[in-house]
Amino acid sequence: MADNNHNVKLFSHEKIETSNFLMIVLTLVVVLFGALVEIVPLFFQHSTTEPVPGLKPYTALQLAGRDVYLREGCYNCHSQMIRPFRAETLRYGHYSMAGEFVYDHPFQWGSKRTGPDLHRVGGKYSDEWHRAHLLNPRDVVPESNMPAYPWLDENKVDPAGMAPRMKALRLVGVPYTEADISGSAEEVKDKTELEAVIAYLQVLGTSVK
Ligand code: HEC
Repeated sequence: MADNNHNVKLFSHEKIETSNFLMIVLTLVVVLFGALVEIVPLFFQHSTTEPVPGLKPYTALQLAGRDVYLREGCYNCHSQMIRPFRAETLRYGHYSMAGEFVYDHPFQWGSKRTGPDLHRVGGKYSDEWHRAHLLNPRDVVPESNMPAYPWLDENKVDPAGMAPRMKALRLVGVPYTEADISGSAEEVKDKTELEAVIAYLQVLGTSVK
């Protein structure tokens, strides 16, 4: 049998299978091609690149809250991605759409859910509820194992830090106006990180009714 194969000189698969180098290079070529076919069209697809109607960039205060969310690692326990399954939409609301995240750099989809998904938590509770919950989750949800974040109430948002952040986001396509940027320091002045993170939570998922 092997002898027969050796007679096929022109295109012998055995050549590839017996050469580590050829095998690795050609495998890479195939995988790369597959990846391109899957990924490249997404850059040109309307539904993944266009914001959903009514989507607004984060205000300076919400943006500061988002940074606190990242710093504190809330994403280690919370996803922001409601999958299009009945069990999820009944619990959390409308499934997440790509167009809702076009101003999120980087997006916070995640998949780790020690706690519930937060994509549509905006408007679900009052600011007061969030305040109590973040200062000590067990005050409002006795069985909660979420950590308390009491220092958020003591830390102030740095007003000077907002304009550079918003300018950087503008570079990657978030439509901030000059007025948004020049007013950002005033907007977050004297605000605590707790207020900022609550402002952020309250806007999550609210552009889709
Ligand atoms: C160790 C895991 C863990 C971390 C880290 C964590 N959480 Fe939670 N979170 C939970 C769990 C568990 C629940 C459900 C129980 C409860 O409501 O406290 C929850 C609930 C919530 C809820 C209520 C959601 C709902 O629909 O009822 C909000 C809002 C929330 N977390 C925000 C945050 C924020 C903001 C941070 C970061 C500052 C954070 N969480 C960090 C585990 C975590």
